[in-house]
Amino acid sequence: MKNTKGIILAGGSGTRLYPLTVVASKQLQVVYDKPMIYYPLALLMLAGVREILLISTPTDTPHFEKLLGDGKQWGISITYKVQETPRGIAEAFIIGEEFIGQDQVCLVLGDNIFYGKLDFLRRAIANNITNSGGTIFGYAVNKPQAYGVVEFTADGKVLSIEEKPEKPKSKFAIPGVYVFDNNVASIAKNLIPGKRGELEITDIQKEYLKRNALNVEIIGRGIAWLDTGTPENLLEASTFISAIEKRQGRKIACLEEIALYMHYLTREEYINTVNQLPNSPYRDYCLTVLEEVK
Ligand code: TTP
Repeated sequence: MKNTKGIILAGGSGTRLYPLTVVASKQLQVVYDKPMIYYPLALLMLAGVREILLISTPTDTPHFEKLLGDGKQWGISITYKVQETPRGIAEAFIIGEEFIGQDQVCLVLGDNIFYGKLDFLRRAIANNITNSGGTIFGYAVNKPQAYGVVEFTADGKVLSIEEKPEKPKSKFAIPGVYVFDNNVASIAKNLIPGKRGELEITDIQKEYLKRNALNVEIIGRGIAWLDTGTPENLLEASTFISAIEKRQGRKIACLEEIALYMHYLTREEYINTVNQLPNSPYRDYCLTVLEEVK
């Protein structure tokens, strides 16, 4: 069976968050009690993806390396590559071509946060291995104009994909998580930059659609998909995470806890990882997890 590699794209210019993004990129900003990048990383780990490539800007990549290391502390592998300029989301597949190798790939944008029963991604990854082609997701939102929008039939057949349409054909935005088979690197290499001068992820999806190989999975309202692109969004995401964490007394996207839960680490290895953490409320929480996760 083919393996699934993960790419987290965490570059971009983050202009809507200026001046926050002068010294730290958007994906390093705080979302309540941890850096934003923890959330997409948690999503991949929970979906069973353990080989991850993180792509960021020349100045930010060293910060991510300092924050996340090689992933061994969580029983995963994290490697790094630089995107010299923000030439578009689809460039991730060109930069990651060698990393993807013969496998399929799940790309997550480093500023996408999901909360809820996240098995939708694990399922989609398994289905995409069976069917090959590509899988995108649809999520009903109030203002689809701000996103890529997917139109589909009642039996889930994609009819159209449009990037930030003035008159959207459906309410379903396409979140920043995608699964593509091994053809994606060669498709990306043949793309022509769009109106914004970027290699557009929408054009990759359109190519799969043209080949009759694009599948859409609807993510229901039981899952929260949060935006983090503007100061307002960022504050709302923090408030959301803090409300749930305080109520439940459990953390969302605690990578140590996920590593233990997914059996990426044995209990012994987990204790070793937690012992390396500085004395902090975060470490105290990780210690309590040993009692909760069996
Ligand atoms: P956007 O939110 O579209 O762009 P941005 O992060 O540069 O922010 P702004 O619009 O405020 O300037 O990007 C979506 C995600 O993709 C985000 O995590 C950044 C990332 N990205 C890259 O890493 N490289 C790119 O070339 C592009 C276009 C985006």
